[in-house]
Amino acid sequence: MNVALLGFGTVGSGVYEIIEKQQERFRALLGREVEVVAILIQDKTKPRVVENGVLVTSDFEEIITLHDVDVVVEAIVGVEPGYTYLRRAIEKGCHVVTANKELFAHKGFELKALAAEHNVNVSFEAAVAGGIPIIGTLKQLLHVNQVLKIEAILNGTSNYILSEIREKERSFVDALNGAKEAGYAEADPTNDVDGFDAFFKIVILAELLYGIRLEWGEIKQKGIRDITLEDIQLTESLGFRLKHIASLEWEDGRLKIGVEPKVVTPDHQLYAVDGVDNAVVINGDLVGELKLQGPGAGKYPTASAVVEDLVNVFSSIQDPVLPKDVQLEKSERTLVHPWLLISQTSVPVVGEVSLDQRIQQNGQLYSVKVVRTTRTEIDRLQLEYKELKAYQISGGTVPELTKASITA
Ligand SMILES: NC(=O)c1ccc[n+]([C@@H]2O[C@H](COP(=O)([O-])OP(=O)(O)OC[C@H]3O[C@@H](n4cnc5c(N)ncnc54)[C@H](OP(=O)(O)O)[C@@H]3O)[C@@H](O)[C@H]2O)c1
Repeated sequence: MNVALLGFGTVGSGVYEIIEKQQERFRALLGREVEVVAILIQDKTKPRVVENGVLVTSDFEEIITLHDVDVVVEAIVGVEPGYTYLRRAIEKGCHVVTANKELFAHKGFELKALAAEHNVNVSFEAAVAGGIPIIGTLKQLLHVNQVLKIEAILNGTSNYILSEIREKERSFVDALNGAKEAGYAEADPTNDVDGFDAFFKIVILAELLYGIRLEWGEIKQKGIRDITLEDIQLTESLGFRLKHIASLEWEDGRLKIGVEPKVVTPDHQLYAVDGVDNAVVINGDLVGELKLQGPGAGKYPTASAVVEDLVNVFSSIQDPVLPKDVQLEKSERTLVHPWLLISQTSVPVVGEVSLDQRIQQNGQLYSVKVVRTTRTEIDRLQLEYKELKAYQISGGTVPELTKASITA
């Protein structure tokens, strides 16, 4: 099996190294060797450790005109030029594998349709939750289950930052700088901390599970940039935990999608998922609740997912049968949910109130409420009270107020 690698950074070089080391395994599994025959890079001056005989080029034309490429693996950043390259590869009859979530969230539909026309496979295991085999697991489950709900931590950088703020009592900015120093955050962390990365991944899952094509802008994502140490400490003092959660919920053909910080209760499967880990909680109508947890990024975990796709590229697993006519739920704003409200000013009581306290934190007095109300009502309040923080609560029972230092 001859492979062309587009991109030779963290992921691409990891794929190359694994392929070099795993020939015996490939021979046993596939009855053939897997060979990287060409590599596309951008900067020709960077030193690369690559075997003699492999074409290393910054000119895609040199790769697409090769006659013997079976699979093109794409691990570049951003929608272009990867999209154009993968289209050309599919049109030429190559199978394609991508790790690029931004590209696949924007153009997955088009690539899948084009691949069906040309009778080749498009695989994207590494694009969602890195080393966690979520795509394969969902495809497998879908043969007999309807997936009713997914709640997931899909961005390791955000999860790391929230864990650092909580455990080390750091500010958001301080924790973000720590994430950059540890190599978990890019110099420009927008995609991670503003929720875009998790959004790309949940869009890919929605397409996979429900065949729904989301209009860009139809769902708004919210990141973690305005979460403070005080928000986290107050949440913890009530027995909850703040997490950045991407969710999908399907009922009777209606689909709800969200990407935002939420408060979870201690019995929630995501409560104890800390550091750079990702985790996905799946609810299937027959299988019940499952949780997958592990490294959502990193050279070898991500490259491992790409190589899994390579190994499966010639397998003939049928695509799952998807539910028909799924509609995005637009009335979600009118559904009643529990919310945690935090503010320094006095905010009027809304909905059904189960907790209403004044709590002293770091020398400041906060009004903290747990209410059951609609998102519409929360949005209205936040327009009026600019510093009001509101987090939807997910999980089981709302615990009693215990450790908080309460003033009258
Ligand atoms: N890193 C992870 O843990 C991880 C996890 C899951 C998914 N992903 C996804 O995998 C993809 C690759 O990520 P990465 O971390 O490996 O990125 P990276 O380290 O920045 O590597 C990107 C590679 O693409 C090449 N490249 C960039 N622009 C190009 C262009 N216009 N033409 C040709 N080559 C170009 C770069 O060439 P030079 O080497 O010459 O600069 C480099 O080799 C991204 O889409 C990312 O979202 C990454």
